[in-house]
Amino acid sequence: MLSHILRKGVLSSNSSTLIRRYASTNGQETVLVVLYEGGEAGKKNKNILGCVENALGLREWIKENKLDSRLKLVVTSDKQGENSLAEKTLPEASVVISQPFWPCYLDQTRIDKAKKLKLAITAGVGSDHVNLEAACKRGITVAEVSGSNVVSVAEHVVMQILALVRNFIPAYKQVVNGEWDIAKIADKAYDLENKHVGTVAAGRIGLRVLQRLKPFDVHLHYYDKFRLDKSIEKELNVTYHSSVESLAKVCDVVTINCPLHPETEHMFDKKMLSLMKKGSYIVNTARGKIMDRDALVDAIKSNHIEGYAGDVWYPQPAAKDHPWRSMPRHAMTPHYSGTTLDAQARYAAGVREILGNWLNERPQREEYLIVDKGKVVSRAYTEGDATKGHSEKK
Ligand code: NAI
Repeated sequence: MLSHILRKGVLSSNSSTLIRRYASTNGQETVLVVLYEGGEAGKKNKNILGCVENALGLREWIKENKLDSRLKLVVTSDKQGENSLAEKTLPEASVVISQPFWPCYLDQTRIDKAKKLKLAITAGVGSDHVNLEAACKRGITVAEVSGSNVVSVAEHVVMQILALVRNFIPAYKQVVNGEWDIAKIADKAYDLENKHVGTVAAGRIGLRVLQRLKPFDVHLHYYDKFRLDKSIEKELNVTYHSSVESLAKVCDVVTINCPLHPETEHMFDKKMLSLMKKGSYIVNTARGKIMDRDALVDAIKSNHIEGYAGDVWYPQPAAKDHPWRSMPRHAMTPHYSGTTLDAQARYAAGVREILGNWLNERPQREEYLIVDKGKVVSRAYTEGDATKGHSEKK
């Protein structure tokens, strides 16, 4: 096989000729791809690349690059429990591709089962579904398509801030229900102008949120482990806080845009929520587990927090009886802010690039790497286990 390939001259660095890496036993590397079901929409719309039906464009890519004999693709949405196809495929998988919208939680137990696993790719941004500590110990590379959906999320954040502050959801419901009670909506509708809005983290998404909010003439705040350039702070007229507590105390709206890792898990617990201004709002599109689920419900029910929005839950998909679905004054959506059709095109291309580089033993883009050669190399994460307690059965 190798001599055949060499004769054909396919060991070039061209991304359309990706054949260098040689599989161990049966001549094939198993790539487990865990995605959400596309249903009718996925069958009709080929641009919904993130679903099982369209598989990130990997089937076509494998054909185009004549990789059929090299890669065995297992694409599934079936990820829950020991008898799921994902779990059964793990022992033979060299690569697992998963996405935050429908995560295949790679906790210690699953990593132990996945004896051949060398590469975990996130189709999107946010690799907290992988136990990074275990990946470091096992020498598994963890990569994500950094930057691929950051505008998509930032737009969603602005939309949900406005939905909460302007009391959009109850107003919309009135229309659908045939009602017309202006005072009832106006009772809780405000302008965003002049309010204090702060982001927890000003990375790619947080910074874009600040930039998009500037024209609303609000007072901007941010907290991050790393400070933005002085010139950016000046341009945005944004106040830096050296702690979350300091930001939480002064903001009318807090938006959460940091990764989930052991330092940020349950960052918004009962104590942090109690420090927030009475009547303030929270928009969290980062990760569900950054909030203490029940402490949030209590804070909303006691009217201390006026409204909550976001698109991230824990675990995902959210249970039918998840208390955030039924708590008052929320504007939650399923996890989709980072999976607009525009974003899907970008992260699917990124996944194919990462897989191609791996097959061809080419270096990955530095900004895509979360864990490399046994170390956490992304400054967004700390080593540890954000998958702790993740249970598919809950
Ligand atoms: P990024 O890596 O560009 O920025 C992360 C920022 O968080 C960095 O500035 C880092 O310094 C800061 N940070 C990390 N730990 C911190 C801590 N303990 N305290 C304060 N700051 C801390 O990441 P990006 O692209 O902005 O994404 C952020 C997160 O948003 C992702 O990790 C993911 O969880 C979530 N996300 C959600 C999506 C959705 O569809 N809802 C899509 C994309 C990302």
